[in-house]
Amino acid sequence: EKIVLAYSGGLDTSVILKWLKETYDAEIIAFTADIGQKDELDGLEAKALQTGASKVYIDDLREEFARDFIYPMFQSGALYEGQYLLGTSIARPLIAKRMVEIARAEGATAIAHGATGKGNDQVRFELTAAALAPELGVIAPWRLDEFREQFPGRAEMIAYAEKHGIPVQASAAKPYSTDRNLLHISFESGMLEDPWFDPSAESNEDMYVLSVSPERAPDQAEYVELEFDKGDCVAVNGESLSPLEVMEKLNDLGGKHGIGRVDMVENRFVGMKSRGVYETPGGTILFTAHRKMESLTMDRDVMHLRDSLISKYSSLVYNGFWFAPERLALQALVNESQKNVTGTVRIKLYKGNVIGAGVKSPVSLYNPDIATMEADPTKAYNQNDATGFIRLNALRLKVGSGVEQNAKK
Ligand code: ARG
Ligand code: SIN
Repeated sequence: EKIVLAYSGGLDTSVILKWLKETYDAEIIAFTADIGQKDELDGLEAKALQTGASKVYIDDLREEFARDFIYPMFQSGALYEGQYLLGTSIARPLIAKRMVEIARAEGATAIAHGATGKGNDQVRFELTAAALAPELGVIAPWRLDEFREQFPGRAEMIAYAEKHGIPVQASAAKPYSTDRNLLHISFESGMLEDPWFDPSAESNEDMYVLSVSPERAPDQAEYVELEFDKGDCVAVNGESLSPLEVMEKLNDLGGKHGIGRVDMVENRFVGMKSRGVYETPGGTILFTAHRKMESLTMDRDVMHLRDSLISKYSSLVYNGFWFAPERLALQALVNESQKNVTGTVRIKLYKGNVIGAGVKSPVSLYNPDIATMEADPTKAYNQNDATGFIRLNALRLKVGSGVEQNAKK
């Protein structure tokens, strides 16, 4: 029997690797997706083999992540509960998709992951697997009584690792959990569980990875130009870049200027509220610039229709329904809405702010001749027409308020 495990090299998935191998007497194939978590990948292959994996996959999925996941999501304007740019949520379906591909290629019967039974990630992994490979079994050790009884706390896991010669990191574990990729890094649990704890305090500055605080950001603003083609950013400061390169470039720029820190209490799909802190420097620049590009080039009613679907789209991504038919249907509408979102946005980065500083487009829908308060040379708009426009719109308001006043008499 073969099992494909989503492996990070941390204590949890290391223990799980060994535990699965012993418990199921199976061959364990360790899989790690490189989706931009950087140094966390160092030495991973050797470590997995030493822990007992029969085979190790470390796949560079960064370009695919940017092109096929981050970019389509940013076209939609997705933002969960008004604040969260979905950095972890959007990565899960890609990891699960690749895991399923490996399982099929290797003839594995099940996939396994180290997500807890209280979070969103388990749902995202497993809904993706259900949509793409319904025949595969899923093993989630944290949801098994026998696993939780064997490992009630970190101490038992460390003891188990030592007993089995699993290399455990010497450095003291951070008192919170993190998840990093090309789009963001998240921080949860530990001291963050107290919603009154202030992560933005200078004394907590060590926690952050991708950005400086706005207070420490340069006093000099920096201009950046983003070029869009059909809703996708294709160049930064005049240089053509791939989606991956755009994200890396914007992360550097945003991080330097303290852009994209978020601290929120969010609603998990499984029902509980949870406190999360995020750094999404490049994503925050992209999100803001994209909206500015749309403001000049997108038809009003197309925009309002798409906007009315943002919270639906965001929940689908957050809840793990990336490969569900309704997300694909929504995506078709989103793609259609972007066909004219082309041009250049100029922004200014300054101490945590993304400030609009100009926008232009060869397909702009903005017509200063029509909008101007001066005499309109196009004669497209006759101010007299507005009299009837307002009168007809006012009709039912007048009737309604007349009835209300009569009733009071
Ligand atoms: N709360 C965020 C989400 O649900 C971040 C989750 C972080 N996951 C993790 N395994 N550390 O998308
Ligand atoms: C986990 O519970 O595994 C991480 C947090 C989450 O998935 O929401």
